[in-house]
Amino acid sequence: MTDADRQDRWRGLLPAIPAGARVMLTAFLLIIGTGYIVAVANIFHEHQQADGKPGLSIDDVRAVYGRLTVARDEVIPSRMLTMVRGAMREYIDDEEDFEILETWLKNGGSEAGLNEGPRRKTPRRALMRNCMRCHAQSSGTDISKEAPFGPDEFEVDYQLISPFVASTSESSGGFVEVPPQYTIPRLVLVSHIHMLSIPMFTLVVAMLFTMTRWPPSLRGLLTPIPMLALVFDFSGWWLARFADPFVYILAGAGGLFGMVFGLQIVAVLIDMWRPAPVSRPTG
Ligand code: HEC
Repeated sequence: MTDADRQDRWRGLLPAIPAGARVMLTAFLLIIGTGYIVAVANIFHEHQQADGKPGLSIDDVRAVYGRLTVARDEVIPSRMLTMVRGAMREYIDDEEDFEILETWLKNGGSEAGLNEGPRRKTPRRALMRNCMRCHAQSSGTDISKEAPFGPDEFEVDYQLISPFVASTSESSGGFVEVPPQYTIPRLVLVSHIHMLSIPMFTLVVAMLFTMTRWPPSLRGLLTPIPMLALVFDFSGWWLARFADPFVYILAGAGGLFGMVFGLQIVAVLIDMWRPAPVSRPTG
């Protein structure tokens, strides 16, 4: 036995854990694994339209976190249009209200347009009827702090909604640069939620992986990767607004995380239930 082997006291600990605890850990890994797949599906659903085209691509990542440059005649849907067509669609019961909002947003969501249309059929009215119960500051919901549309349910404040309806910023030549769809407050919220939760189960899975009987070199190589990938991923969310290469870094880190994390889960599950645990060296 080499020195390295002797120091590798964690090796084989996992299969030596009592069966009851291994059953618990198996359930944990299945929940975490499934949760991760659902989270990826959610990313796809949420962001695939970000660049105005169906399907998830690097431009979607760029549109959300970085600065997307598009030919001037290409229209990028605003954050509100994306949400109205996506996650917020379910809150609009009235088909006509949906069309009023969609048309107004597609046409740039101007302040004047907010009041256009027959009485009771204006975008302002549609916002009041469908959105303000959650997005009015007086509603006290979490989302109303992050994305407020007005002081109370009867007043839409254009100043407040303008970041969500804006779709283009300054132009350069024949191209337009679109600012990140994630505003700073939104990024703060998304960051702290993710940074306090994802590393926790990443840590648990990596520790379990270290306790398997897979070759030391493989464990040594794969154990730190997901956590390191998170460092690059989380930093990328912030840095992509300033420098475009971080768009690739964050997308690459996210992909790498998923692959190695998935591999670790499978490797742990196999090792945990593989027969003949090694006899652990004593002392
Ligand atoms: C039942 C409560 C509720 C209603 C009604 C509702 N929303 Fe939301 N909205 C939320 C929540 C919660 C989020 C954040 C979750 C998410 O991003 O999916 C959100 C997020 C958003 C965002 C993204 C904010 C950001 O920071 O990027 C926009 C834009 C938005 N909603 C627009 C609308 C519009 C327009 C309507 C009306 C058609 C509407 N919402 C109705 C709860 C609501």
